[in-house]
Amino acid sequence: MKHRDVIIACDFSSAEATLQFLDKFTDCKPFVKIGMELYYAAGPAIVQQIKARGHKIFLDLKLHDIPNTVKKAMAVLSKMDVDMCNLHAAGTIEMMKAALEGLTREDGTRPLLIAVTQLTSTSEERMQRELLINASINDTIVQYARNAKEAGLDGVVCSPLEAGMVKEACGEAFVTVTPGVRFADGEVGDQVRVTTPARAKEIGTDYIVVGRPITQATDPVAAYKRCVEEFVG
Ligand code: C5P
Repeated sequence: MKHRDVIIACDFSSAEATLQFLDKFTDCKPFVKIGMELYYAAGPAIVQQIKARGHKIFLDLKLHDIPNTVKKAMAVLSKMDVDMCNLHAAGTIEMMKAALEGLTREDGTRPLLIAVTQLTSTSEERMQRELLINASINDTIVQYARNAKEAGLDGVVCSPLEAGMVKEACGEAFVTVTPGVRFADGEVGDQVRVTTPARAKEIGTDYIVVGRPITQATDPVAAYKRCVEEFVG
């Protein structure tokens, strides 16, 4: 397996809270996801601070705008030396291609670029009624994943339960990044379609994104290590 890893969703509202949390990890440097809340609160400096501590970073800002704007924004993110970033596949293949161009550095290297297909908070009923998409949600997810692949992207964010069909449609090498992971004996919270780290491994997803089961645990480092043990083995 090429790059199976556990990404901790650092859903904190300040740099202080985030760094205090990361201080607990003295003997390992987990892959960290920075989302909109933390990025808007703490700015690009938090990316540099976490990077300087030796963590890999998934910057989860879900860009969606006209191709030229996304291309320029991606060029800025690329300079911040993040390892993974994302956008909405709904922005079209043209937008995704532009994003890839913006993200690619002069030496040809770039962070992984992942597309959001349909958010897991969007139900099939709402997608059809409000967005006037008549296809099923599964067909829509697969089509958006195919578009992302055609644009040259590395993979998609999807629920663990969708990872199998995405791999089937786009090939094993197409990366899947999946939130909605819970321990078998843990609380589910507001997530609906969840699975365990062990089951996510069986399904064959590449990265799991785990927030509260680690950040709210009594012993976050032990919870992270349990996740790695179950998922990476
Ligand atoms: O705390 P929890 O494990 O539910 O955190 C999951 C993380 O993944 C959160 O940062 C959430 O915003 C993100 N996410 C998600 N579902 C998606 C996309 C992102 O839960 N479809």
